Parts: sequence; structure tokens; C-alpha cells
Amino acid sequence: MPLKLAIIAGDGTGPEVVDQALAVLDAVAKADNFDYTTTAFDFGGRRHLDTGKVLDDDDIAALKPFDAILLGAVGHPEVKPGVLEKGLLLKLRFDLDQYINLRPVKLYAGIDTPLKDKTPDDIDFIVVRENTEDLYCGSGGVSRKNTPQEIATQEMIATRFGVERCIRYAFELAVDRKASGYPGRLTLVHKTNVLTYAGDTWFRAFEQIGEADYPQIERQYHHVDACCMYMVTSPEAYDTIVVPNMFGDIITDLGAAIAGGMGIAASGNLHPDPDSPNPSMFEPVHGSSPDIAGQNKANPLAAIDTLAMLLRETGKVKKDQALIAAGDRVAKAVQSVTPNFTGKRLDRSGYSTSDIGKMVIDAL
Ligand code: IPM
Ligand code: MG
Repeated sequence: MPLKLAIIAGDGTGPEVVDQALAVLDAVAKADNFDYTTTAFDFGGRRHLDTGKVLDDDDIAALKPFDAILLGAVGHPEVKPGVLEKGLLLKLRFDLDQYINLRPVKLYAGIDTPLKDKTPDDIDFIVVRENTEDLYCGSGGVSRKNTPQEIATQEMIATRFGVERCIRYAFELAVDRKASGYPGRLTLVHKTNVLTYAGDTWFRAFEQIGEADYPQIERQYHHVDACCMYMVTSPEAYDTIVVPNMFGDIITDLGAAIAGGMGIAASGNLHPDPDSPNPSMFEPVHGSSPDIAGQNKANPLAAIDTLAMLLRETGKVKKDQALIAAGDRVAKAVQSVTPNFTGKRLDRSGYSTSDIGKMVIDAL
């Protein structure tokens, strides 16, 4: 069976970086002898401005039969903030129940980190961000709006079910990583000293599951504010991190920064169960960068490394070793071209988006 991919190239620089990822996919599929199909979807800011649509239930249903979704970037300067974020990106994550947001923080050789004296050995961890709960549920409201008595609430939701499936995924990942030489340490990041309800649900689940089922994994707990400090002063303290949605959003931007920049940060929104009814969605962490759109200046390494993650994860779900191997080969090829680039934008590098795509293909 060919690998069936839905492609949402999106807005701004999204289509340019997705083009490069697809060129790399074509090269690796030929070399590794697997078949795939791609189907393009025009979801994003442009379609919204033209038709008023963001993403409806028919759109979601149309995506369901695919093995995975590759998304470039969504965001358009003429669309009000929040419309595409909530109506498209978060709707996809929620409706497809992509409950894990997987974000590696890995400094590649040759990329500059703003952290003094830190090397690729020090900055190499992975963040498991819960992706369907917390402050992102949209629970709350506003009353007495535009009066001096205005009240707004926005609730932090933690269900035992949602927390537990995320923590179990993170322990399993820590076990896998331990088998390939990582320390076997899982850090829970929260703010249990203040968020004594939601934080306690997370903390008890973490301790109970770890003690009962993963005694071989070392458990570490950090408050989120301290975590921000340690990510800068001692990132080597981290192997695998598990974190609720909102704090995960914040610390993964910091993670992208210490690993050299948004130009190389990959991510996956996963529904990781082996018999999952829903496709996972893979997207670079960066946005649509409208100021350089269409100029062949966006760094495609994040999108290409995101493709690598797609190939590995799809392989995992389908137990297809060829795809896992292809993903690893793409990731290696990305890493081998990084000495020529920073993790940031290409504006001043003298190379173009397509130059880098070509270099990755050559390195394959
Ligand atoms: C991210 C982004 C999104 C989030 C926004 C665009 C809704 O910041 O993927 O990290 O908050 O999750
Ligand atoms: Mg974010």
C-alpha cells in the first residue's frame, strides 16, 4: 500500500518549504523503494479570504482516510489573529484527537546556539507536549464586557484520561530513547506549587504510572519557571520532558531558540495509537513569514526534518521499517547540510530555499 499523504501547504512561505520537503520525499522514496501519493488541500488564509471558510466538518472528514498530513504554515496578514489559529490549526489537533505534540530540541553540529559553551551533546532532548487539553480547550467566557466590572475566565482543564495517555506515551518514548543511549530520564514540567488542582492531577499520575510500570526510568520534576532557567543554564539536565499544552507551547519556543532558531524546529501532532482512526499531522514550528513569502528565502530545513519525523512516525504506526529508515536517512541528510547554515532565516546566507533542498537531496 502506498503511503497516502494529505498536503496543506498553507500560506506565506508554507508552499515553498513544503515544495522542498516533497522533493526530498520523492528522492528518498525512489532510493528506498516505497510508493506514496499526495493530495493537496487549499486550507489556510487565502481560502478563508476568498470564500469565508476556515475548516468545517467536511474538511475534517476528507482528511481522515490519509496516513498523515504534512502542513507548511498557516497565517495571513489580512486575517484577524485567532481565526486561523483556533479555526484551523487547533481544530485539526482537537478534531483529529492528536493528543501528542512531539517537539525535539536538538542542536545540530555546525549550528550556532546562543548558549555560551554548550555543544550538541548538551542540547539534545525531546518535549512531549499534551495537545488537546489545558488552557487550549476554550473553556471560560466573558461577562459584563466593556464595563468597569468586566470578568473574563479561561480555564485550565486536566482530565485523568488526557493526562494519563500523554504521560504513558512519554514514558514509552523515554524507554525507546534509553535503548538508544539516552539516560532514561523523564521530567514532568508543571507549576504544582501554585496550580494545586491541575498540577496535582499531573503529578500523581506521573508518580503512579512511573512507579508501577516504568521503574527503569528516572523521574524528575521541575516547575516551569525553573525549567526555563535550566534550559538556558543546563539543558543537559533533560532527556525527555512531558508537559501540559500551554507550558509546552512556551518552553518549545525557548527550545527552538537554544537549538539555533525556528528555521530548523520540527514537530508532529500525533494520534500515536497503532490502530489510530486519525492521521497525525506534521508541521514545522515556524509560522508563515509573510514578509519573505515567495522570495525563495525561507529555510526549508524545519519542513524537511518534519518530513523525516513523518516518515519515522508513520512507519512506527504501520510497523513499516522502510519508512523509519527513510526518516532517519532524511534527518541525517538535514544534519549533514547544517554546517553551512544557521537555524535562522536564509536572508543573509547567500543560499536560497531551493538550494538547500537540493543539498539535502545530494546528501541523501
Ligand atoms: C504552536 C503555535 C500554536 C500553539 C498557535 C499558532 C495556535 O504557537 O504550534 O506552538 O499555540 O500551539
Ligand atoms: Mg507555539
